[in-house]
Amino acid sequence: MTPTVRDFRPSDAKAVAELRRAVLPFLLSTPQGIAWEVATAPAAQRLRLFVAELDGRVVGAIRAVLLHDAGVPGQAAATPQVHPDHRGRGAGHALLTAAEDHLAAAGATRLYAWAVDGTGAPAFAERHGYRRTRQARFLRLDLKAAALPPLPTALPPGVRLHTGADVEADPRRLYEADAEAAADEPGDVPADALAYEDWLLRTWEHPHLDLDLTSVVTVDGEIASFTLAATDGRTRYSSAMTGTRRAFRGRGLARLAKTASLLRARDAGYTEAVTGNDAANAPMLAVNRAFGYRPCAGEWRYVRELRRD
Ligand SMILES: CC(C)(COP(=O)(O)OP(=O)(O)OC[C@H]1O[C@@H](n2cnc3c(N)ncnc32)[C@H](O)[C@@H]1OP(=O)(O)O)[C@@H](O)C(=O)NCCC(=O)NCCS
Repeated sequence: MTPTVRDFRPSDAKAVAELRRAVLPFLLSTPQGIAWEVATAPAAQRLRLFVAELDGRVVGAIRAVLLHDAGVPGQAAATPQVHPDHRGRGAGHALLTAAEDHLAAAGATRLYAWAVDGTGAPAFAERHGYRRTRQARFLRLDLKAAALPPLPTALPPGVRLHTGADVEADPRRLYEADAEAAADEPGDVPADALAYEDWLLRTWEHPHLDLDLTSVVTVDGEIASFTLAATDGRTRYSSAMTGTRRAFRGRGLARLAKTASLLRARDAGYTEAVTGNDAANAPMLAVNRAFGYRPCAGEWRYVRELRRD
C-alpha cells in the first residue's frame, strides 16, 4: 500500500506528538504544543503540517514553513519525520514532495532540512538533492544526578535575578533581548527579522514556556541576559533560548541565568534537561558543558536550492 499524504487535523495532535517523540526523543513534543503551533502560525509563515498515513495510521509528518523571521526572503524549512517502524515504504518521499511543492508555490527558493546523524536521514537527504552544511548537537543533562553550581551568595553590583513571571507585565524588553541574541546565534539563516507580535504568539505564549522557570538577569535595571525554559509539564525541561545582549557578554551572565533556571527546574521535580546547539556555538557549548550536559545525538543541516522555472 502506498502512503496517503494529507493536511494535519487537530485530531492528529496526539499521533504526531508520539511520532515526533519516537523520531526525536531529545525534543519536547506534546499534543498541545503541536495543535497550538498549527493554530497560531503567522500567515507569512505559510505553515502546512502534512501527515502521511499507512494502513489508516499516521506514520509520518512534515512541517513546511517559510522562514519569515529571516531578513532574506525565499528561505524555507521542512524535515520529514517517519516512525522507525514504518520506514522504507515511501512515506518520507511522499511527505517531502508535498512540502517542497507547497513551499515552491509559496515562493521559496532555498529549502533547509535536518538529518539525524547515524540514521538513514543523511543518505535520504542526499538522494533528494540536498547538500550538507552545518552540524548541530542535541545535549542532555540528568538533572537528578547533576552537580549544579549553587547561586552566588552575592551578585555583582547592579546585577539582579528575576523569573519570567516578574517581567510578564511588560515582556517587550525581553523580546528585544531575545531578538538581539537570536540574530547572533550561529546557523544558516539568522533570525534577524523577528516581529514583536510573532514573538509574543510563538515564544511568549507557547504552551511549553514556563515563566517561573524562565530566568532574567538585569544589570542596573536593563535586561542583560535570559534563559527561556520550556517543559512538557512532566519530567522534561528544555532550553527554549539562552541569550545575552551584546554589551553584556563574557561576564558569566548566561551561566547565572541558566544556573537559576536549572536549580528551580530541579526543585520543581524535572529530572531531565535537553537542549540543542550549533556545533560552532562555542560560548553556549562551554556554558552547557560546565553544567554537565553531554551530547546525545548529532544532526546535520541540509540545503537544496529550488529552480525557478
Ligand atoms: C551564548 C551566549 C548566550 C553566551 O552569553 P554570555 O553571557 O557571554 O556567557 P557567559 O559569560 O556566561 O559564559 C560564556 C562562556 O563561554 C566561553 N567562551 C566564550 N567564547 C568562547 C569561544 N570562542 N570558545 C570557547 N569558549 C568560549 C567563556 O569563556 C565562558 O566560559 P567560562 O565562564 O568557563 O570562561 C551569548 O554569546 C549569546 O547571546 N549568543 C547569541 C545567542 C545564542 O547563540 N544563544 C544560544 C542558542 S542555543
